[in-house]
Amino acid sequence: MKIYKVKNYEEMSRKAANIISAQVLLKPDCVLGLATGSTPVGAYKQLIEWHKQGDLDFSQVKTVNLDEYKGLTPDNDQSYRYFMNKNLFSGINIAMENTHVPNGAEADSEAACSAYNAMIRDLGGIDLQLLGIGHDGHIGFNEPDSVFPAETHCVDLTPLTIEANKRFFEKAEDVPRQAYTMGIKNIMLARKILLVVSGADKAEILAKAVEGPITPQVPASVLQLHPDVTLVADEAAMSMMKL
Ligand code: PGA
Repeated sequence: MKIYKVKNYEEMSRKAANIISAQVLLKPDCVLGLATGSTPVGAYKQLIEWHKQGDLDFSQVKTVNLDEYKGLTPDNDQSYRYFMNKNLFSGINIAMENTHVPNGAEADSEAACSAYNAMIRDLGGIDLQLLGIGHDGHIGFNEPDSVFPAETHCVDLTPLTIEANKRFFEKAEDVPRQAYTMGIKNIMLARKILLVVSGADKAEILAKAVEGPITPQVPASVLQLHPDVTLVADEAAMSMMKL
């Protein structure tokens, strides 16, 4: 694992955007795996800025997002499709038909998930997958479990995740109870992985994920087995790591 320890959220965002833009420059028709949540927003802002300055061209880039709430349509302002359109896609020259998010409006979980797996395969897999980490160690919505779920599947969100995500909703009861998420195999098949982490509240789980035993109880720990992971984390997030 390549580790960049940076000062704060701003530096983390800039470094992450640098790594993503290097991927786009080296392979203009690359497949980027993208993530939602608060952590990547600063990196997305930076990418938009570099695009506006004429330094980054997304016209051939394809994207696949990790997850989506089941039951939310793309026009719902709490959906991850809406989040991606607002925080990244509307600010860059990407073709919307090249952007993919699991279809939260599809009630048939099996249909939604198998279509998503097939789409990722048809694109030739993911060149660079961006990841955040949840307080329980989840990546995507792969929650602590007794196994590493392989491909895109429907999950019941844990109380901790519902609690963490309720800040985006009017009240906790409005947070959907289920989501579609890429599985660990989809993520691990990405050629490169970029994990971004910020803040003291993530220090304990980050130390467990990077330095603890590999276990599905800490889903992000599986990244220790991937041959090309870059971690960009700020000092607060890395404060409980041994190195
Ligand atoms: P956050 O979410 O970036 O909002 O902390 C990370 C995650 O849950 O994967």
